[in-house]
Amino acid sequence: MSQSLRARYDAEAATYNRTRFGDRRGALARRIKDDAICAILQRRGLLRPGTRILDAATGTGRLLAALDPTPVHLVGADISRGMLDQCRATVGGRATLAQGDLVDLAFRDATFDAALLGGFLYLIPAAAYATYTNDLARVLAPGGLLLCEVANTKTALNPVNMVRIACYRRRHAVKSYVSARDCAALFPAFTCEEVIGVEYPVWCGPKLARWMGERPVLRGIGGKYIAVLRRR
Ligand SMILES: C[S@@+](CC[C@H](N)C(=O)[O-])C[C@H]1O[C@@H](n2cnc3c(N)ncnc32)[C@H](O)[C@@H]1O
Repeated sequence: MSQSLRARYDAEAATYNRTRFGDRRGALARRIKDDAICAILQRRGLLRPGTRILDAATGTGRLLAALDPTPVHLVGADISRGMLDQCRATVGGRATLAQGDLVDLAFRDATFDAALLGGFLYLIPAAAYATYTNDLARVLAPGGLLLCEVANTKTALNPVNMVRIACYRRRHAVKSYVSARDCAALFPAFTCEEVIGVEYPVWCGPKLARWMGERPVLRGIGGKYIAVLRRR
């Protein structure tokens, strides 16, 4: 599976930012997700000098760019050289970049205080979540945090997302949708501490979307959520 994803993203690298974040909806979705990640890290005291954060499957460096210019030490890893080339063009020397596979990361045990996994898990079946996150547990320090974006099953109150799900399913691009309730069981090396809803329709605007994402009832209708997982 890793090699087919690598080939796919090598081929897509040059157009990735334009096709995903180029229009208004994509830019808003990006902003809501990036803001949510930054807010979680801030709340948990992880944006201070000396903190080491790994952006796993960093792609073109969306999250690394969102975290710049915080004083943390940023590392990005990805299996695709093409995506890393795009990432380097965006973040320059502000992060250390390395090519590598999530299932066998070239970092020592307990290297990082936090790891981010944006836009990756929905590319694989839910049954493979543990395979792709167990090595992240190894490179995290005890008690370290993993923030994962997960595609949300509970989008029934959000017609825009329902249409998108139908379209994506037809193209087989999204392999897994998981309810927030079922999420905890999919990461055996972690305890799921909270989920924050992200990806609401454009009309919501970033402030309303953020407010909704943090409300227990409303976060269930976000197209995705961020699972906040603590390494056991
Ligand atoms: C949808 S992109 C997400 C990129 C970025 N995290 C974001 O949110 O914009 C998925 C990324 O996962 C990377 N990837 C796929 N399989 C991987 C693996 N086994 N190890 C590391 N990266 C992988 C791809 O190369 C691609 O850059």
